[in-house]
Amino acid sequence: MKVGVLTGGGDCPGLNAVIRSVVRKGIQEYGFEFVGLRDGWLGALRGTVVPLGIPEVRGILPRGGTILGSSRTNPFKHEDGVRRIQDTLTAHEVDALVVIGGEDTLGVATQLSRQGISLVGVPKTIDNDVSGTDYTFGFDTAVGIATEAIDRLHTTAESHMRTLVVEVMGRHSGWIALQAGVAGGANVILVPERPFDIDQVCAWVKSRFRINYAPIVVAAEGAVPKEGQMILKDRTLDEFGHVRLSGIGEWLAQEIEERTGTDARTTVLGHIQRGGTPSAFDRWLATRFGLHAVDAVNDGDFGMMVALRGTEIVRVPLADATAHTKLVDPSLYDEFQVFFG
Ligand code: F6P
Repeated sequence: MKVGVLTGGGDCPGLNAVIRSVVRKGIQEYGFEFVGLRDGWLGALRGTVVPLGIPEVRGILPRGGTILGSSRTNPFKHEDGVRRIQDTLTAHEVDALVVIGGEDTLGVATQLSRQGISLVGVPKTIDNDVSGTDYTFGFDTAVGIATEAIDRLHTTAESHMRTLVVEVMGRHSGWIALQAGVAGGANVILVPERPFDIDQVCAWVKSRFRINYAPIVVAAEGAVPKEGQMILKDRTLDEFGHVRLSGIGEWLAQEIEERTGTDARTTVLGHIQRGGTPSAFDRWLATRFGLHAVDAVNDGDFGMMVALRGTEIVRVPLADATAHTKLVDPSLYDEFQVFFG
């Protein structure tokens, strides 16, 4: 059997660990052959297919990014997209695909699977918002980076007795903001799932100053004020209809300064959260996902996604996993209210 592997969407730490484990087990245990499709669905459309054997995956386990490249290409936005992908697979005699991606890439995989393409999905994203799995790899690394940044910002905030606002990634879901905010001892955590009241944020900031602490406000990029709109970096839509976010941190710092008469600064962590070495947990999870994905291919169990449930790796239908985004539950968010202010 010849298997194609692709990585789509925003990159995330651990992608290479999946590729390595898929290829190692596939060749060593099942005698499969592999090829890589470059830059996600773009390579499938263009027929950009590269060799993928043991030499190509040697030494990549701890490396961030993806050796196969990635893009936010949506084949359904390209003329004859599905036919072109089928042609690529036929031309290179690819029998099945392992598709490593987040909600968009796996959403495409779900539709292609319905159209008869044999594939297995592997969930990735630093945002941790893919349904059907307790965690995606990449998230643990991003939370670790954001937490370290918050730890560092505490000391400079205290030296100047000013507010530091930290903007983290998370377009629709506040998993990074919540987990890093709690781990880093933030006084205010703002997530997209819970529109915030700016007066309440300022009241928390003031109460922090009153007890002689410098406030740390952690905001997901998709956090929105109750009265107002999401702040966009620019209005251009990508092929999945997403705008580019960022700006909520700067907006918050300005509002805090104006409304409280105290000093505030912003740090936008941006792609630092996605780059570089994956954490040990992400390498472990990515490796396990890869091993189980190649098992699913060997079993002919297509249209499925590997997922983490507790400590077990299970298979779930791609259609279920991509039906909705996994959001922060309001009751989970409320657990931490005691630390706000
Ligand atoms: O989907 C992962 C993610 O990192 C989001 O948190 C963020 O909004 C987006 O990607 C940024 O995308 P890009 O790298 O294309 O600017």
